[in-house]
Amino acid sequence: MGFYSDVILPRLCDLAMRNKELAPFRERVIGAAEGRVLEIGVGSGLNLPLYRAPVAEVLALEPASSLVAMARTATRASTLPVKFLQASAEAIPLDAQRIDTVVTTWTLCSIPLAPTALAEMRRVLRPGGRLLFVEHGLAPEASVRRWQHRLTPIWRYCCGGCHLDRPISTMIEQAGFHIDRIETGYITGPKPMTFMYEGSARPA
Ligand SMILES: C[S@@+](CC[C@H](N)C(=O)[O-])C[C@H]1O[C@@H](n2cnc3c(N)ncnc32)[C@H](O)[C@@H]1O
Repeated sequence: MGFYSDVILPRLCDLAMRNKELAPFRERVIGAAEGRVLEIGVGSGLNLPLYRAPVAEVLALEPASSLVAMARTATRASTLPVKFLQASAEAIPLDAQRIDTVVTTWTLCSIPLAPTALAEMRRVLRPGGRLLFVEHGLAPEASVRRWQHRLTPIWRYCCGGCHLDRPISTMIEQAGFHIDRIETGYITGPKPMTFMYEGSARPA
């Protein structure tokens, strides 16, 4: 921990995640949530004002205390109860099958043990519950993948552990989910950073 990770990085994360091109993804993903929601890696809380009925409650999980503090401010614009869990997704402090919807937006790239975190998400989801996700990750073209693999070591170092080359849909399936909707494609920007996976999955 240090000045960069505690002070600079959370502000950079907030700034980067305010990219206007991400807003329609947030609206679609958050708009499909219902019931008791667990959001993983809530960051500075940019999704929090978007939750509406039939969402009853949001549990906002985030390990970084500086981001939790920023996200608490965002709850002022939220119309629903929001409870913060300062914890890591690899060990979610909830009993099994208590959650109707798990949400992750651009978080699976940064979680150190993403397969463990996905197994935890599956554990806390009730049968028939849904994982809603939008993530960036491994691109389909070999040439872009090569750059993603090359850049990831330095990118991780500068950008809070973010990986450019995670195969998001494969990881979700390998954690025991059945993907029932997925859309992929590039947004504007350098190809290694902008290949998106958006969709929903249920415990298989
Ligand atoms: C790029 S930010 C995205 C923030 C937010 N989801 C959004 O859409 O604005 C990545 C987030 O993953 C969180 N993160 C990193 N490691 C994590 C872990 N082990 N468990 C849960 N969240 C984690 C970071 O703290 C950060 O909030």
